[in-house]
Amino acid sequence: MTDNYDDLQASYGRCLRANGFIERFYEIFLASHADIAPMFEKTDFRQQRLALRRGISIAISHAAGTAMVRRSVGEMAQVHSRSGRTPVRPSLYAHWIDSLIAAVREKDPQANPALLERWRRAMGVVVESFSGSY
Ligand code: HEM
Repeated sequence: MTDNYDDLQASYGRCLRANGFIERFYEIFLASHADIAPMFEKTDFRQQRLALRRGISIAISHAAGTAMVRRSVGEMAQVHSRSGRTPVRPSLYAHWIDSLIAAVREKDPQANPALLERWRRAMGVVVESFSGSY
């Protein structure tokens, strides 16, 4: 059965219309594990916020099985692989997902436990792809 995750696209739209969603995500995420903030020491956050904004949208489409984003997912996986610009060891991804869900819970006025569980499942798909090509 296909699941196009329209409810997540809608939830993501509400998050982006609320103020400071991506900023709040990074606040939570950088504090979520001692190894994470140092990885962003030299990061230009203005650029990074745009990159992630697009990355989350790609991740939702990827979970929905959209073939059109395959190349973008591959590129992001490459950046975060052992040999990439920004290696991310797979055990850290749980913090990424938890932080994203905490930010959605705060910013989407229609967030509820079932919706957050769907976010978790969908983001699990992209994180599996990244871990698989680590
Ligand atoms: C524990 C999880 C993660 C960590 C620690 C992490 C860390 C980073 C860091 C340090 C950068 C480089 C920033 C710079 O240029 O200074 C980066 C770039 C990026 N990350 Fe992640 N990331 C994680 C997960 C993810 C996930 C799950 C996605 C997508 C859904 C993602 C999408 C991106 C994108 C699109 C870029 C920009 C890549 C580029 O410069 O071409 N990241 N990440």
